[in-house]
Amino acid sequence: MSAAAAGAGAGAAAVDAAAAAAGGAGGAASVSSMLGGFEHGLVKFIVAGYGARGSTYSVYAMENPDRARVIAYADPIESRRAVACTEHPHARAFDSWQDMIRDDAVLDEADFVIIATQDQDHIEPAKAFAVHPSELAILLEKPMAASKEDCIELSRSLEHSFFAVCHVLNYMPIVRKAKEIIKTAKLGAPTGFAHFEPVGHTHFSHSYVRGAWGNSKRSTPILVAKCSHDFALLMHLLNDSIRHVTSSGTIRHFRKERKPVAAGGAMKCAECPARDSCLFDAVSIYADPVAAGTSTFYSRKLGIGRAGTIEDAHRVLATTQLGTCVYECDNDQPDHIVTTLIMKSGIAGTLTMSAFSDEICTRHTTIVFERGLLQINFNTGIITLKRFMRPDGAIVKSQIIPNLGPESGTRMLGHGGADWYLMNAFCAAVDTRDHGMLASDNTSSLQAHVAAYLASMSQHNGGQGYFIN
Ligand SMILES: NC(=O)c1ccc[n+]([C@@H]2O[C@H](COP(=O)([O-])OP(=O)(O)OC[C@H]3O[C@@H](n4cnc5c(N)ncnc54)[C@H](O)[C@@H]3O)[C@@H](O)[C@H]2O)c1
Repeated sequence: MSAAAAGAGAGAAAVDAAAAAAGGAGGAASVSSMLGGFEHGLVKFIVAGYGARGSTYSVYAMENPDRARVIAYADPIESRRAVACTEHPHARAFDSWQDMIRDDAVLDEADFVIIATQDQDHIEPAKAFAVHPSELAILLEKPMAASKEDCIELSRSLEHSFFAVCHVLNYMPIVRKAKEIIKTAKLGAPTGFAHFEPVGHTHFSHSYVRGAWGNSKRSTPILVAKCSHDFALLMHLLNDSIRHVTSSGTIRHFRKERKPVAAGGAMKCAECPARDSCLFDAVSIYADPVAAGTSTFYSRKLGIGRAGTIEDAHRVLATTQLGTCVYECDNDQPDHIVTTLIMKSGIAGTLTMSAFSDEICTRHTTIVFERGLLQINFNTGIITLKRFMRPDGAIVKSQIIPNLGPESGTRMLGHGGADWYLMNAFCAAVDTRDHGMLASDNTSSLQAHVAAYLASMSQHNGGQGYFIN
């Protein structure tokens, strides 16, 4: 690890290099050693929406058959049900959650439901399961709902439910460590914070220009779709709630005016004369890996399956917006936003989201206290504590908090393994009926969403400030 990574700044009086070196960049311990917390032994769940997220969470049941079991799944897409059938051969299949919820036998047997349909389709199933006599616990993908008003209404409906939103970041080992340090390090009161979310230029173009979240009217505003996690994370880390938000941001780059002149009138990358020099050339992002036989995150997003050919890839690019010039899409999501937050305690801080980064979604968070500061680097996994000294300088301690890696024994490595931690915590919490095992609750999730919606309103209203009641 470099000295810079260890945080040895000019004012450092001492650096605990041993602590920094001790972690190593590898994965954490095997997940089997972290399976504690179950009392009864087996929780059964059903999955509404077997897409990317629903199938990911269901891996937990495949890997831990004595702890969790998928007993039913619902998805209107036949190929997704076929995948689910292979992965959970004994589970019942339904075409929709509407059909699944009508099956009393399934609902009687299940302990909880995962709702992993798309953004616009969260409120309906969540409300339906909340009032259903089976009283299933509910694990709901973010965003809670597609408007502030719907979030408030849904939160009320869920008042008596055992419920959590998938705020995966809150379950990351580095976040748990940061909370422990904040609680024990005697740094004085927090005085402010700066949080940076680098989305990654290709990831942004895929998700927030061309893809499912490119247009806020089809999905939700990016501050909700992408950053509701970050509002929840800041509240969780600071043990505080949000009182006021303002926000500024625009689409600086992904707009027609920024289209290279050399691209001429080309609408599709495949026919663009400027594509060799374009960072966002869809052919090289999506199709070339298929031709080379090297499946990547983006080539998988074409939805052509493992057996998909290069012809299939080009067909998807030709017929969907995934193959469209990023300067010609129907996108309306800002590509750089700065939000200021005032917390209930009175401290202020910023949350910056940028499309333009080499890192993909690995946040950087600094929290400043009266007697020191804490830096959390989600990219390197390094957490750095600087304790201020008299008359100047600081004692600096860094350590690596490893994410889950392949050696941990789980395939659930998304969000640094937080997908696994979230599912493990939720299954254990349902098994013991102990909501204290979870890193968010109905109130904090609602607050995070309301803050995100109001920040988005502020961004559209020239930075006007909004209070959160
Ligand atoms: N927690 C996170 O970090 C995180 C990350 C990415 C996405 N998300 C959120 O998770 C949700 C799902 O995202 P995804 O990428 O898995 O989407 P997806 O499109 O891959 O999956 C959604 C699935 O819901 C199915 N569906 C539609 N109508 C249905 C119905 N009536 N009954 C049952 N299933 C139905 C679709 O066919 C699809 O397979 C979104 O709201 C997204 O914003 C959360």
